[in-house]
Amino acid sequence: MDMDKSFWALDLVFNNRLDAAMAAESLAGVLDDLGAIGWHEATPNISNEVAVRVFFPNSVSLSRVRRRAVEAAQVLQREGIFSALPRLNVAAVEKHDWVEECRRGFRGIRVSRRLRVVPPWRTDNRRQHPTVRPMEIIILPGMAFGTGLHETTRLCLRLMEKEIHGGERVADVGAGSGILSIAAIQLGAQSVQAIELDAQAYENFRENLRLNRVSSRIRLFAGGLQAFAEGRIRGRGFDLIVCNILFEKMRPLLPCFRSLVRRATGGTVILSGYLWSEREGVLRELKSAGICKRDQERLGDWGAVVGRLEC
Ligand SMILES: C[S@@+](CC[C@H](N)C(=O)[O-])C[C@H]1O[C@@H](n2cnc3c(N)ncnc32)[C@H](O)[C@@H]1O
Repeated sequence: MDMDKSFWALDLVFNNRLDAAMAAESLAGVLDDLGAIGWHEATPNISNEVAVRVFFPNSVSLSRVRRRAVEAAQVLQREGIFSALPRLNVAAVEKHDWVEECRRGFRGIRVSRRLRVVPPWRTDNRRQHPTVRPMEIIILPGMAFGTGLHETTRLCLRLMEKEIHGGERVADVGAGSGILSIAAIQLGAQSVQAIELDAQAYENFRENLRLNRVSSRIRLFAGGLQAFAEGRIRGRGFDLIVCNILFEKMRPLLPCFRSLVRRATGGTVILSGYLWSEREGVLRELKSAGICKRDQERLGDWGAVVGRLEC
């Protein structure tokens, strides 16, 4: 990502804190899909208004984002999630270090029944007790994808909660920030092989491992899945593969999964990154790649599947 690029910001101004907090949960997917690169929530001003500021690169169409944001907010108001519609303001943020501004505003989010994602300045390790409180995954919001705000990430985390029982060897394909790798260890996996193509994610990935004190259990392959699969001489295979990559980009990777799984323990894959409306086509393609659906979940417009490499 070029930090010298120009950006613009959309402010969604709410007249109460609750609506602003709901915005982060409910609008995240829509705004991410439109190309948002980060956001933060401002502290309330004197009239108790709270602005959620969402950053976009200049290449993203302002009028399209405005239109879609209004439509999405109207739906959420009709469903009773927002008590009132937000006011929209647009501001130019020339050569702005939006990463720093987003970091300050990120407060953390409950991503699944047992897991919560928090930034380093909001951790509460004293309360770390898995049976009573959610486990914390510490994520420093940065250049890598994966703060837990996007539905596709949360779907993976929810399905991982069901599939990880303890002692598994996991492969995290397209690791981004490392959120799924860290979650796997928190949930009881023995080790994780992370695989990530984008060099801009590595620093953030390593920092997140360090913050969660899991660096010794997670290894990073700095390259694409195909290169990883080709370079692997003979391995024991993985009990579980998790992959959150847009299905168009995941399609050519499907044959690699077969060579990586450990058949003895079932060859389970968790795949996220397709639209719910396209699930039937996706499941057909998975089936012809030898992956049969065992479970499927939906969150917003997105779907994720647990499959077995057997058919
Ligand atoms: C949607 S992000 C997912 C990040 C994180 N795992 C999560 O669930 O939030 C997809 C990531 O996959 C990486 N990626 C895309 N194609 C890949 C490939 N062929 N091999 C390895 N990583 C890839 C991208 O660079 C990006 O970081």
